Amino acid sequence: MVLIGGISTNSLNKRFFAALEKLPEANGFDFTVFDIASLPFYSQDVENTPPESVLALSELAAASDGVLIVTPEYNRSIPGVLKNALDWGSRPPGANIWAHKPTAIIGASTGAIGTFGAQQHLRNICSWLDMPVMNQPTVYFNASTGMMDAAGRTTADGDRLYESSAGFLGSFLDAFARWIKTFPK
Ligand code: FNR
Repeated sequence: MVLIGGISTNSLNKRFFAALEKLPEANGFDFTVFDIASLPFYSQDVENTPPESVLALSELAAASDGVLIVTPEYNRSIPGVLKNALDWGSRPPGANIWAHKPTAIIGASTGAIGTFGAQQHLRNICSWLDMPVMNQPTVYFNASTGMMDAAGRTTADGDRLYESSAGFLGSFLDAFARWIKTFPK
């Protein structure tokens, strides 16, 4: 399953994932993106009578071999809407849907550090959620240095990565596939 932390229609990270999904190394994956914008704000009032979208999140997690998190960086951390999704999945106590799910983190931003701050925070959160996060390779995708064009498109046609990026990102996906296989289902 895939969580994308950017929910705007033209989200950089949605476009980044769309480009990632088109790499040949993505062929062995069956990615399903969960729309985190479908979730209400977490509230303990409704924890035991969760809305349909929360049940859908749990069902998708149960059916998934791993979790790919594609995160933007907001103020050197992750977007609140992504934390909201992770919080929902962690409740109620004893029913943490994220536990033991092999996980990989990747992200794109327009800032110089390419989501480094967000990813470091996210690693802390995932540690508490008992998610085994792949350590290497790390990908901090700075969308302002020529890997994407000025409009944030991955290429002129908007759906492919430049060759230098594609090779590196392909190795990230290969490593994630190997990471998932090291954990029993
Ligand atoms: C940003 N942006 C940003 N970029 C970055 O590299 N480091 C940061 O700390 C921040 N902080 C930040 C806060 C907030 C509230 C916003 C809205 C934006 C810029 C960010 O990289 C850019 O808006 C991307 O397009 C965000 O990705 P999505 O949401 O389009 O996928």
